[in-house]
Amino acid sequence: MALPLGLLCILCFVGSVISQDMTYEEYMAQIQACPQECTCPPNFPRAIYCDNKGLKSIPKIPTNTWYLYLQNNLIEVLSADALRNATQLRWLNLNRNKITSEGVEEGVLNAMPHLVHLYMDDNLLSSVPSQLPASLEHLRVSRNRISKIPAGVFIGLDKLNLLDLQGNKLMDDAVTEVSLKGLNNLVQINLAKNQLTSMPLGLPPTMTQLFLDGNNIEKIPIGYFKGLPKVAFLRLNHNKLGSSGVPKNVFNVSSILDLQLSHNQLTEVPVIPAGLEHLLLDHNMIKSVNGSNICPVSVDTIDDSVNESVPRLRYLRLDGNEIKPPISRDIILCFRLLTSIVI
Ligand SMILES: *[C@@H]1O[C@H](CO)[C@@H](O)[C@H](O)[C@H]1NC(C)=O
Ligand SMILES: *[C@@H]1O[C@H](CO)[C@@H](O)[C@H](O)[C@H]1NC(C)=O
Ligand SMILES: *[C@@H]1O[C@H](CO)[C@@H](O)[C@H](O)[C@H]1NC(C)=O
Repeated sequence: MALPLGLLCILCFVGSVISQDMTYEEYMAQIQACPQECTCPPNFPRAIYCDNKGLKSIPKIPTNTWYLYLQNNLIEVLSADALRNATQLRWLNLNRNKITSEGVEEGVLNAMPHLVHLYMDDNLLSSVPSQLPASLEHLRVSRNRISKIPAGVFIGLDKLNLLDLQGNKLMDDAVTEVSLKGLNNLVQINLAKNQLTSMPLGLPPTMTQLFLDGNNIEKIPIGYFKGLPKVAFLRLNHNKLGSSGVPKNVFNVSSILDLQLSHNQLTEVPVIPAGLEHLLLDHNMIKSVNGSNICPVSVDTIDDSVNESVPRLRYLRLDGNEIKPPISRDIILCFRLLTSIVI
């Protein structure tokens, strides 16, 4: 039985090599060039696993690598030399290392014209890396010490749709129209846990997710979301928003589905759109909820047989305020789809 099984395996092997678009010679060269510190699975020859090895530097990476895992090491330098042949990389994971901005060598990233995912969470960067390749779709640089976004760093990055900058040291003067220029197709930005006191300007109209939790934001400009007609998920928990800093209709934007305003200083429930599904207002300073004011439509026009007339709110948190029970009957009459309310 050994022979047929062996044959079967050769077929599997040839199949997997062909499916990864490599010739036999490329395959053999790739396997032979596997850095000795790393693991190179024979059935997945485009991937090199060098994570959790205590590495202080990046080993020489062979040409046909698409996926390179270097997370959880002690790497200080993103070395152009070690990565000289790694021009086909699609996915580079450098999370949890010790790379500083000075350690990102000149030209190392834009020599990777196919790079789609660059992960550098939990490093020691002080600014967003420059010279990023135009192919990039996801850039994660959370929990570094980033205080600077070099002007024009995103210009030409027309494919970038996710930018994670949470847990850095960004202040208002770092996040400007000039520094964000070029983010023409951004869908999600995470700026949580920085040091912003105002809303970032210059975000593109493609945005659907805007996460700003844990800053010191005090107010929102009138009509702020007019420039973001697709915004659906808006997180502003743990900021310093008082009701005087929230213009009357600022959140009354039909695209918003999820609005999170926990742990602020609001004294009133803001005006919400009828399509809103989740509303978090817990841990504010709201004293009372006037059911007829909070309802986005007038209660007597709600007709259960006409779907569009029923406000969409399913989840509502109001706990940690100064509201005394019972719950206003109008809330229940208005939000007929509510499945959960915490007071
Ligand atoms: C790059 O590839 C060339 C040709 O195969 C080889 O001679 C050289 O050592 C490689 N360099 C690195 C840094 O891997
Ligand atoms: C909220 O917006 C809707 C749709 O634009 C509008 O009809 C409604 O009057 C607004 N609500 C308030 C309280 O202004
Ligand atoms: C709620 O607000 C409406 C309109 O502003 C007002 O007429 C009504 O008296 C208020 N209800 C309560 C219980 O304060």
